[in-house]
Amino acid sequence: MTDLTTPVDRYGVMGYPVSHSRSPVIHRLFAMQTAQDMQYELLQVSPEKLETAVRQFQRTGGKGLNVTVPHKSTVRKLVDQISERASTAGAVNTLSFRGGEIHGDNTDGIGLLRDLGINLGIPLEGANILILGAGGATRGIVGPLLEMQPRSLRIANRALDKAQIIADHFDRHGSISACPFDMVPVEEPYDLIINATSAGVRGETPPYPDAAVSDDTFCYDLSYGLNPTPFSVWAREHGASKSVMGWGMLVEQAAESFEIWRGVRPNTAPVLKQMQINA
Ligand code: ATR
Repeated sequence: MTDLTTPVDRYGVMGYPVSHSRSPVIHRLFAMQTAQDMQYELLQVSPEKLETAVRQFQRTGGKGLNVTVPHKSTVRKLVDQISERASTAGAVNTLSFRGGEIHGDNTDGIGLLRDLGINLGIPLEGANILILGAGGATRGIVGPLLEMQPRSLRIANRALDKAQIIADHFDRHGSISACPFDMVPVEEPYDLIINATSAGVRGETPPYPDAAVSDDTFCYDLSYGLNPTPFSVWAREHGASKSVMGWGMLVEQAAESFEIWRGVRPNTAPVLKQMQINA
């Protein structure tokens, strides 16, 4: 018999702004599919209120949170235990509240790898990869990408120093380097170009390196939208073999968080299909 006094397990996403987030829809679809009794809320929290909001969510019995822009880096100071991948990324996107402690993890990198490797079938081992941008999003994906042993991984950014800091941080892996947009080496074609800048969010198309795209290049935008993002348009205009927005990464990182919280892995394919149909 169902115990009507047992509260439903509560989860949510904290961001600022957050109204555009698709996470509640994705997690509700996962919960329905796996028959998990849970609720998932949209929580708009400004940076100065983050700590109070997280602690209150924890105090009132919340089980887990996703944390999104602009809190992924600052939330680290609230975490009692951090996973190695979140520590390497310098960013946390998943909090779990267990036994009075806050555990922090980062599922963005594995989400991207799953989308590229499993959903899209892009071989990463031995690939020449170019990442555009050197902010928090780049920091989250570089470590997991390097573990796939690409031939080269270049980070191009408007501000060279930021790209260089990330390249230096991961330099123990060898194959990584940094450059400004106008000095991207193009002797060897790129198999994969990932847009990790936030330029498209403001509808901007920076002077991306046109010559880096060939008809063998797969272009992937970490951003996604109802319409093609400026980077997707740029990629197609410059002859990329394929250009994809980050819907798959969004769904895959959510699935990884869901599994951390519930111990059940949802099937992402139908959810991804539904998100793209409704996009
Ligand atoms: P996120 O956490 O989403 O990565 P971020 O840390 O603010 O956000 O980083 C944004 C990235 O997008 C940076 O690499 C930024 O370039 P700079 O480091 O040179 O500022 C890049 N970016 C944003 N708008 C851009 C634009 N109009 N042209 C070029 N790069 C842009």
